[in-house]
Amino acid sequence: MTAEEARTRIDHLSSELERHNRLYYVEATPVISDREYDALHRELADLEAKWPELASQNSPTKRVGGAPLDGFSQITHALRMMSLDNTYSEGEVAEFYQRMVKLTGSEKIDTRIEPKVDGVAVSICYENGALKYAATRGDGTVGDDITENVRTIRKLPLTLPTDAPRLLEVRGEIFMPNEAFRKMNDEREAAGEQRFANPRNATAGTLKQLDPKVTAKRPLDIIFHGLGQVEGEEVTSVDAFQALLGRLRLRKADRIWRADSLQGIVTAIRELDALRRSLPYETDGAVVKVNSVAVQQAVGATSKAPRWAMAYKYEPERAETLLKAITVQVGRTGVLTPVAELEPVFLSGSTVSRATLHNEEEIQRKDIRVGDTVMIEKAGEIIPAVIEVVLARRPADSQAFNFMEHIGHQCPSCRAPVTKEEGFVAWRCANFACPARAATQLRHFCARKMLDVEGVGDIVADKLGERGMVRTPLDLFDLTADDLAPLNLGTDEDPRVFGPKNAAKVVAACQRSRAMPLNRWLFAIGIPDVGESAARELSRLHRTFAEVADSPILSELAQLKKGKGKETSEVLAPYQIAQEVGQVAAQSVLDFFNGPGGQAMLEKLRSLSIDPQSDNYAPLPATAATGGGSSAPFSGTTWVITGTLSEPRPVFEELIRARGGKTSGSVSARTSYLLAGEEAGSKLDKATQFGVKVLSEVEFRAMLDAAPTVETPAAPPLSESKEQLNLF
Ligand code: IVH
Repeated sequence: MTAEEARTRIDHLSSELERHNRLYYVEATPVISDREYDALHRELADLEAKWPELASQNSPTKRVGGAPLDGFSQITHALRMMSLDNTYSEGEVAEFYQRMVKLTGSEKIDTRIEPKVDGVAVSICYENGALKYAATRGDGTVGDDITENVRTIRKLPLTLPTDAPRLLEVRGEIFMPNEAFRKMNDEREAAGEQRFANPRNATAGTLKQLDPKVTAKRPLDIIFHGLGQVEGEEVTSVDAFQALLGRLRLRKADRIWRADSLQGIVTAIRELDALRRSLPYETDGAVVKVNSVAVQQAVGATSKAPRWAMAYKYEPERAETLLKAITVQVGRTGVLTPVAELEPVFLSGSTVSRATLHNEEEIQRKDIRVGDTVMIEKAGEIIPAVIEVVLARRPADSQAFNFMEHIGHQCPSCRAPVTKEEGFVAWRCANFACPARAATQLRHFCARKMLDVEGVGDIVADKLGERGMVRTPLDLFDLTADDLAPLNLGTDEDPRVFGPKNAAKVVAACQRSRAMPLNRWLFAIGIPDVGESAARELSRLHRTFAEVADSPILSELAQLKKGKGKETSEVLAPYQIAQEVGQVAAQSVLDFFNGPGGQAMLEKLRSLSIDPQSDNYAPLPATAATGGGSSAPFSGTTWVITGTLSEPRPVFEELIRARGGKTSGSVSARTSYLLAGEEAGSKLDKATQFGVKVLSEVEFRAMLDAAPTVETPAAPPLSESKEQLNLF
C-alpha cells in the first residue's frame, strides 16, 4: 500500500466509523453489527500504527482515550464564559422583564425559555470542521484543557459537516443521563467501589480524570446552549443558533418555549417544571433568554453575567415527614450504616420511606433523633437524604440518639462485637460470617463481573442470608436444586417460592463458575482493597489461591509498608507490579488469607474441589514468554526517549533493543514512537508536529507485556522464583 492509498483508506474508515458512531449513539439506529464495527476500527488502528504520520488527532480510534496526562494545561477563552443571574422568585423574573422593557423601549420582548441542564459547563471549539479543543469554564477567563476527555464522548461529533462555519466555539453542558448514571453506580457498588452522590458530581469527577481511558468508560453526554466565538457565519438570534446546531447535528435543548410577555414566560417556566422530570437528565431551572442578538448586544452584560438572560431555579423538592425509627444495615465488608425509617411521603414522583443517615457522625452533627420531624430532599435520581431536623416540632421528651447504645454495642444482625478502625467514621461488624454480611457478600459474589451466578439477585441473596442457608458465599455450592426450589422470597402471609426452574439455573451457574479464572474468584470473594484490576494483577503474579495465600511477592510488598524493606524493592522490580497492588492491598490480601475467614475459605474450596487457575499468569513480563505474545510491535520500529522516567534511559533502550527495535536521539518523520516521561519538552512538541505516536511509560510497559524479547527464556516455574525471593 502506498502512502496515498493509506491516506485514502484512513480517511474513508474514519468517516465511516464516525457515521456509525452517530447512528449508534445519537440516532440509536445502527446499521452494522458490533463485530463489523470492530473490524473497521481494527483496520483503522492497524493502518494508523503502520502510518503514524497519517493518524489524525480526531481519529475515531482516539475515542477510547489516549495516554494519561500529568495535569491539565490552560486555555484562555476567546470570549469570557459568564455565569447567569439566578433567582428562585417569579417576582424577580418580572423585574428582569421590566428591565428589558426599559432598556429597549419596547413593551414586547421576544424571549426563549429552555431547560437549565444540571451538568458541567464546557466550551468546545471546531476549526475547519474538526474538533480543536474543549475547555472547562474555570474562572470564566481561563479554563482547563479537557480535550482528551471530551474526545471520548461518543455522542459528540469530532468533525462537523462541510457547511460548518470556519471557526465555531459552542458552549454547553456535559452531563450523565440518569439511567446510565444509575447503572454505572450499581456496577461500581458491585465492584466494591464508592457510589457517586449524583450525576453532576460524577460528571465533574469524570472530566477531572487525568486518564482519558477512565473517562471513555463513563456514560457522558452533552447538550449545547450557547455560542462563543464564530467566524464564517452570521448568527442573529437564539432561533438561528438552534437552527445552526440542528444543521451541524450538535445536540440541542429537547424543548424551547417562545414568549413575548411576562405572563408567557411564567407559563413556560411552570410548564417546564411539570415536564422536566420526564427528561432523561437532571435539570435545576429554566433559562430565559432574549432572542435577538442585536438586542442582546444592546443591553449588554454586567461584569459577571449578561443582562439579556436569567436563570429561574426550581427549589429542590423537599418534604417534611416523621422519623419513625433508625435501623442499621450491615454491608459486605461489615460496615454498619444507619438508615432513617420514615412515615412514607410522596416526593419527586415517588414514595419515600427510607433515607440514608450515612454514619454516626452525621447523626450527631445534625442531632437527628427518633420521633423528630425531618426535612428530606430528593433531587431526581439521588438517594433521599435527611437535610435537617424541624426543631419546632421536636417532642418535649425526645432523647439524643446514641448509636452504640442503640445497637447495644453489637452487630444488629449477629450480635458480634463491633469495631472502628482509627481514622474511620464507620463501625464494622467483626464477624466474618455475619448473616447480614453474608447476604451482601453473596450478592457481590454472584454479580455479573464476578462469578456471574445468574438467578441470585438481591432478594434471593437476602433470603438465603436471612434463613441461614448461606453463611459464606461458598455455602451456595452445597445447595441442591431441591434445597433452593422451596425458598420463599415473599412473606409468610404472601409467599412467593423460588421454584425448580430458577433453582436449576442457579445450580448450573454455580457449576459454570467453578471454571472461572482466578482473577474473577479473587474479585468475587471480596477482600478489602482488592477491586477488579487488583484481582487481575494478582492473577498475573500467581497461579492459584494457594500461591496467593502464601505469596513471597506479597510479603515483600507488605514489608515495604512497615519500613523494613527498602523504599523501592530491587527484588520486586522485575515483576513490574501495577499500582493497583500496592502495599495496602498486599497486606490486606495476606491478612485475609491468614485470618480465620480466609483459612476457612481455602479449606472449603479444597473440600469442594474448586481450584481456580490464572489465565494471565506472567509474573516476569520483561523476560516471560506469555505464549500468545509476540515481539512484532517492536520489530523495525525507531524510538526516541525523552523526559523523566522511573529508571535511567539506558534501561529503556535495552528493553526496546531486546525486542528488535532501534533507538535514536532525535525526532524525525521516520520516528515510530516517542516514549515521553514527565516534563517532556521540545521532543514532545516535535513528535506532535510530525504526528509521531507518543507513549507514556505506563503505555510503553503495557506494550512490553505483550511483546517478549526476541529470544526469550520461559518464565521460571514458581518454585524457582520463590527461591529467588527467599534469598533476600
Ligand atoms: S445560557 C452567559 N442555557 O448554567 C451564560 N446556560 O448558571 C449563558 N446552563 O453558565 C448561558 N443550561 O453553564 C444557558 N439552557 C442553558 C443552560 C445553561 C445550563 C448553565 C451554563 C451557565 C450556567 C449558569
